[in-house]
Amino acid sequence: MTTALITGSTAGIGAAFARRLAADGHNLVLVARNTDRLREQATELHDRHGIEAQVLTADLATDEGIEAVESRLGDRKNVVDLLINNAGFGNKGQFLDVPMAEELTMLKVHCEAVLRLTTAATTVMRERGRGGVVNVASVAAFVPRGTYGASKAWVVQFTQGAARDLAGSGVRLMTLCPGFVRTEFHERAGMGTDNIPKWMWLDADKLVAAALTDLSRGRSLSIPDPRYKALMGVVKVTPRGILGGVTSRTGRKYGPQ
Ligand SMILES: NC(=O)c1ccc[n+]([C@@H]2O[C@H](COP(=O)([O-])OP(=O)(O)OC[C@H]3O[C@@H](n4cnc5c(N)ncnc54)[C@H](OP(=O)(O)O)[C@@H]3O)[C@@H](O)[C@H]2O)c1
Repeated sequence: MTTALITGSTAGIGAAFARRLAADGHNLVLVARNTDRLREQATELHDRHGIEAQVLTADLATDEGIEAVESRLGDRKNVVDLLINNAGFGNKGQFLDVPMAEELTMLKVHCEAVLRLTTAATTVMRERGRGGVVNVASVAAFVPRGTYGASKAWVVQFTQGAARDLAGSGVRLMTLCPGFVRTEFHERAGMGTDNIPKWMWLDADKLVAAALTDLSRGRSLSIPDPRYKALMGVVKVTPRGILGGVTSRTGRKYGPQ
């Protein structure tokens, strides 16, 4: 049996990864801050699928939290075969509206934790000649708008570069770039979502199924929906100056408020 470690496993996209990987027979290490919720999730997945689910309470905005997960990933007697770096959050407001402490927390969770956990996992995976890492970014990574998108652009660049460096080692790295997904994300950030058109919403379970197919195919970038693939195709060929203006206008009109 293989083991997958999922950060931010208790809600949204992370919970969809946990459901799918448990159904596929993987043991799980579930990471988030809320221990009661983690325990409840572990019991439910164990009872439903007969897998072992370990609870690891950790706040990835702190050094102690990151170190606890690094230490679990570095355990060579109880190896992790698949790491899903999924924990993340958004901040309401534009640049200069958000307090610096919250901006730095975002960089800690989205960038530093992802760098350190990917390093801890792939060090062991490379020794074994197998393993996989999925780093959850966002389609926001591809448009010049906000510090959230900037942090996710770092995740995309880092993951694709590391995937290239580890090519041929048996270790696969992929960055997953979802569009809007119905989760707790927007409510937690205090963002209204009424302006977001219905067609732009993705289902977390379908997103995860498509992402795991992309991982099995050896892709280093997964944008798992035809609508967003088409949108990102347009973004790619649009000059940056025009793109900045268009995304600001459409973001104000149709984005989270
Ligand atoms: N939903 C979207 O539209 C969307 C779109 C593109 C990308 N994404 C990305 O997808 C990922 C998952 O988001 P989601 O929409 O599933 O969010 P969500 O429903 O709000 O779930 C977030 C999960 O992360 C955990 N978490 C948050 N901060 C943490 C921290 N400091 N340390 C450890 N765990 C933490 C939460 O549990 P605790 O509170 O118990 O810690 C929860 O399990 C994020 O990286 C997000 O940026 C989301």
